[in-house]
Amino acid sequence: MYEAGSEYSGEERLVAPDALSEDMESEGSLRPKTLEEYIGQNQVKENLSVYMQAARTRGEPLDHLLLYGPPGLGKTTLARIVAREMGVNIRTTSGPAIEKPGDLAALLTNLMPGDILFIDEIHRLSRSVEEVLYPALEDFALDIIIGKGPSARSLRINLQPFTLIGATTRAGQLTSPLRDRFGVILKLELYTPEDIAKIVKRSASILEIACDEGGAAEIARRARGTPRVANRLLRRVRDFAQVLGEGVITREQAGEALARMEIDELGLDSLDRRLLRALIENYRGGPVGLETLAAMLGEEAVTLEDVCEPYLMQIGFLSRTPRGRCVTAAACAHLGMAMPGAAAGAAQASLFDGE
Ligand code: ADE
Repeated sequence: MYEAGSEYSGEERLVAPDALSEDMESEGSLRPKTLEEYIGQNQVKENLSVYMQAARTRGEPLDHLLLYGPPGLGKTTLARIVAREMGVNIRTTSGPAIEKPGDLAALLTNLMPGDILFIDEIHRLSRSVEEVLYPALEDFALDIIIGKGPSARSLRINLQPFTLIGATTRAGQLTSPLRDRFGVILKLELYTPEDIAKIVKRSASILEIACDEGGAAEIARRARGTPRVANRLLRRVRDFAQVLGEGVITREQAGEALARMEIDELGLDSLDRRLLRALIENYRGGPVGLETLAAMLGEEAVTLEDVCEPYLMQIGFLSRTPRGRCVTAAACAHLGMAMPGAAAGAAQASLFDGE
């Protein structure tokens, strides 16, 4: 699956934004507990703070809230912060964990007034579970069918008013009846390197790791805009700093450690580089369909779509067109490869189209 000889082969990818087993232990202590401590996503924070204040003033639960964006940006963290700031309990589950309508009914009937139900990966709810959710969201009620055939009756059970916080990496995959039932939809963006550097410094101080400005900036530069990746790199770089250095993370220390981990200057790892190289060498720079690319790399299409592409697009290395993915001149330059004919042609054509 990975480049031969790559040190970090297998499922767990150092720059993967999905939570790895090693993240679980320390993520808890690094998670900000209040909006004030939460760095970045300023627009989301400002809006959330207004909505929470308004709901508190009215003495009502917060409107149902959908958080979407690439993995590792802090959707779960934000949901916990909302619960804490609203002074309510939070029950956490995920789309695939709710197998049957009865599982959801059990969760809903156990909520106290104003509680938050957090459903991660909400785009993965089954249709039958989703149908139970509609009246719950709209009327705080469960409609239960008793009996079968002509004698079947519908029984309505009232629920306590609650707030659903849904999180998803792919808002486009939500059915429109579900999406329409969220009063507030907030998109989380990849963080700027400056915000990631602040997060690295905060995490370093919590973990009691000495890390100077240069060290934090170097880790931030390679963390692909994702706090979870930044915190993971920080822990690995600390290992190198403690064993091979003076115990302080400096720019040089961080750069050297990250290079040993095969993470390049821009945070690309071997999978990103393989993706770009495959596009250049096998498909003349694109356009090529996602599924074709995934099959070629022996990866899941969702991994490429959720993990590699948001960052590659953000740094201008990849473009998505209706006909497929295309590599850019900047990506070719970064890899030290020539821009293939087709991609060069596409770039030229888009210049003439005024795109
Ligand atoms: N740790 C992880 N994400 C964070 C954020 N957005 N702000 C502060 N610390 C964090």
